[in-house]
Amino acid sequence: MLKLAIVLLVFSLVEANRFRADYPGPYCAARRYDRCCHERQDGCSQPISTTLCYCDEFCDRGEHGDCCPDYEEVCLGIPPESLTVPCTHNGQTFTPFDPPVVDNCNTCKCNMDGSKTCTDDVCLTDNELLKQLNHLERSIGWKATNYSEWWGHKYDEGKVMRLGTFYPKIKVKSMSRLTNGLDHLPTHFDATNYWPGFIGKVRDQGWCGSSWAVSTASVASDRFAILSKGRETVQLAPQQIVSCVRRSQGCSGGHLDTAWSYLRKVGTVNEECYPYISAHNVCKIRPSDTLITANCELPMKVDRTNMYKMGPAFSLNNETDIMLEIKKHGPVQAIMRVHRDFFSYKSGIYRHSAASTSADQRAGYHSVRLIGWGEERHGYEVTKYWIAVNSWGTWWGENGRFRILRGSNECEIESYVLASLPYVHQQVKDLGVKGNLQHMIVGTGYVPHPSQKYPYKVVRFN
Ligand SMILES: *[C@@H]1O[C@H](CO)[C@@H](O)[C@H](O)[C@H]1NC(C)=O
Ligand SMILES: *[C@@H]1O[C@H](CO)[C@@H](O)[C@H](O)[C@H]1NC(C)=O
Repeated sequence: MLKLAIVLLVFSLVEANRFRADYPGPYCAARRYDRCCHERQDGCSQPISTTLCYCDEFCDRGEHGDCCPDYEEVCLGIPPESLTVPCTHNGQTFTPFDPPVVDNCNTCKCNMDGSKTCTDDVCLTDNELLKQLNHLERSIGWKATNYSEWWGHKYDEGKVMRLGTFYPKIKVKSMSRLTNGLDHLPTHFDATNYWPGFIGKVRDQGWCGSSWAVSTASVASDRFAILSKGRETVQLAPQQIVSCVRRSQGCSGGHLDTAWSYLRKVGTVNEECYPYISAHNVCKIRPSDTLITANCELPMKVDRTNMYKMGPAFSLNNETDIMLEIKKHGPVQAIMRVHRDFFSYKSGIYRHSAASTSADQRAGYHSVRLIGWGEERHGYEVTKYWIAVNSWGTWWGENGRFRILRGSNECEIESYVLASLPYVHQQVKDLGVKGNLQHMIVGTGYVPHPSQKYPYKVVRFN
């Protein structure tokens, strides 16, 4: 009996609340004098829809009642929350009057009738994916971790705001190596050890799809330092590329060829002069600017006043050619197809795993810096890898870097690799160091572009 009464009570409360949601009122609360009346008083009513509802005690007759929707709250003093059947989600209880419950990148709100409505988006990471990756760890050869930075973000958001390189429309093939293969390639090579102090730090693009600009500026910066033998160690400004390259889309992504052709035609200033803000802003550099007219501080070691310009970009499309280019002139830029599991990479040699592959988890494109290579032995098995630098900060991966399978075009990493040579300034300032002749002026201007002496065909964009 008691049970039945409770069921009935719950049923009528649910009904009352449905009613309440459809007719929010106020009704009894809107009556000017006696809002609620004793016993039966037919005048104690309010218009509702095309009829009347009542605020007298007589209205409260269970199933046959004709009370106004706010009668319980106004006349009986029952707070509206207690009239609802709460919802539960992951053990958390909440009512329609509570804020929606957040579950990773999805939210659930409680409806008046006790049902809940949840969004159902694929998140950048989730417990299921992490569980699968931990199971697969031994077979895939890399470790995953739970990054709090990814938690609460949708996969689509990560693809747009953490990547940001468009797949090239024109495939640049036709590169063939013209030199003889006499160059010796070591089994391990890391540009940061080979050119200490010349390789730029790991950057964090933030929630801005600017890898197309960040990777281009980073490769260009490294090459300025290396090819000037340290005279021009400069961090070039990706923000200028994000904000000033009109044919790309700033934080919504860009094409690598637009970034390289901007560096060739206009050039860029240094980071301090145009700091990265992880957002699109109004371009503040005119193509005709110099470091002086752009109000940048001039470099100490060389007499440069022009912006930093690069020669035409060229592509490298086989493993050996990429290695030779890195060893000879420094880091190169590679496009990479990014799957959902990559975001959770912690350490090891990355390869795309079977975890997280479904139609709604399509890949996005990214661009990174390749700075070296190596190999790892497990028994008789040798695993070759590239050392790459990502642009997600040092908290990600192996201090911001990652290793990825080499020689098998893993995630298309070897399919679109670009490099370019800088116009290094030759005129060195007199630093006034007595007796140090190396610091005196050693040149009078710019060297002819080294691509003319270069063993690769040069691919010109536009
Ligand atoms: C990952 O971290 C989030 C919070 O940042 C936590 O809610 C979740 O349970 C964690 N998952 C695993 C598998 O550790
Ligand atoms: C790369 O291409 C060159 C010719 O351009 C060829 O001699 C070499 O074997 C290739 N290397 C690989 C790893 O495919």
